Amino acid sequence: MVQNKAFLYKAVPDGWPVPGKDLSVEDIGFDETAPPPPGGFTTKNLYATYDPSQRGRMRDPSIKSYTPAMTVGKPVVSVHVLGKVLKSDTPKIKEGAIVLIKGYYTEEYSAVPESALDRTAVIDPKPGVPLTAYLGALGMTGMTAYGSLHEIGQPKPGDVILVSAAAGAVGQTVGQIAVQEGLHVIGSVGDDRKLDFIINELGFTSGFNYKKENISDAVKRLAPDGIDIYYDNVGGELLDVALQNMKDFGRIVACGTISTYNNSGASGAYGVKNYSSVVRKRLRWQGFIVYDPNIIRWEKERDEKVARWIADGSFKSVDFFTHGIDHAVDGFLGMLKGENLGKSILKIADP
Ligand SMILES: NC(=O)c1ccc[n+]([C@@H]2O[C@H](COP(=O)([O-])OP(=O)(O)OC[C@H]3O[C@@H](n4cnc5c(N)ncnc54)[C@H](OP(=O)(O)O)[C@@H]3O)[C@@H](O)[C@H]2O)c1
Repeated sequence: MVQNKAFLYKAVPDGWPVPGKDLSVEDIGFDETAPPPPGGFTTKNLYATYDPSQRGRMRDPSIKSYTPAMTVGKPVVSVHVLGKVLKSDTPKIKEGAIVLIKGYYTEEYSAVPESALDRTAVIDPKPGVPLTAYLGALGMTGMTAYGSLHEIGQPKPGDVILVSAAAGAVGQTVGQIAVQEGLHVIGSVGDDRKLDFIINELGFTSGFNYKKENISDAVKRLAPDGIDIYYDNVGGELLDVALQNMKDFGRIVACGTISTYNNSGASGAYGVKNYSSVVRKRLRWQGFIVYDPNIIRWEKERDEKVARWIADGSFKSVDFFTHGIDHAVDGFLGMLKGENLGKSILKIADP
């Protein structure tokens, strides 16, 4: 047996997850002499993504949602795990291949069963595209951004778009796609370093720090004629202000509500006051899940365009690493608190 540290889900959190009680890092062991599972393969894992949706899966399993609850006592399920194949019992996956496994455990080594083959892709990075881009802009994050912006946001050159959590994984991708497509792009972020990043490195038109400036004043200052598209990653007060400042026939892409994810029950939730704008302004306001057919149908276009933009240097796939599985809990909580700039990734081992 070799050491196999795993990011463990120990108990259902009530509000913010408590390190040690709800989440921990422990050695669960790995038998490197054992054969791979029948029809499956084993991996040494290199990276695992952090995603806010993981918090939603840390719930009482009796509460139904679009993804199943995680199992207490098992490793935390990551949206993507990227690993190097050690042994394989399937001709579809060769030893030494780099594979991207959707929805798998966060651990140093994995024995992946045959049942996970349909969510495993062999990665052969295109020239000029870093491996980790397949965890972000060319992974689920980028699919979320590209598919929903086009399907629901219906962007046109010159449109004014407001993006929340703009320096995060989805936000940086939505904003850069909008820049590429000639929109006027405004970002909302939680610190000045992120503000500098979205404007000076990603090419957003403007932005504001919602922790420093009154949100309503900021939106009126930066979009005096109103907003065509609000890309909502956070819910709460910013959604309310966006509703108030939408143009007639504007679109709201309801991607996430991270401002509510660590509330204990519904009592702490912000009550939206400007709902009547939806009718008065004839808004289109639609939620989605990235795996919906109307979102996934944009995958080929996303793959071609975003890979080309990354390779020609006009699009930045920015990663924010937590180094080492020993720090897995801190990295996860840090992402929920907003410490990340770009796509949050746990680096487990060198490629
Ligand atoms: N619908 C789907 O299928 C789908 C798929 C993927 C992601 N999502 C959603 O998209 C959103 C962004 O996800 P991501 O992976 O890109 O994460 P992320 O933006 O990289 O990280 C989360 C960010 O949220 C911001 N944040 C945290 N608490 C906040 C609060 N109380 N108010 C406002 N902002 C807050 C922080 O940035 P600041 O410092 O700027 O506050 C933090 O960096 C999440 O809501 C997620 O659930 C939805």
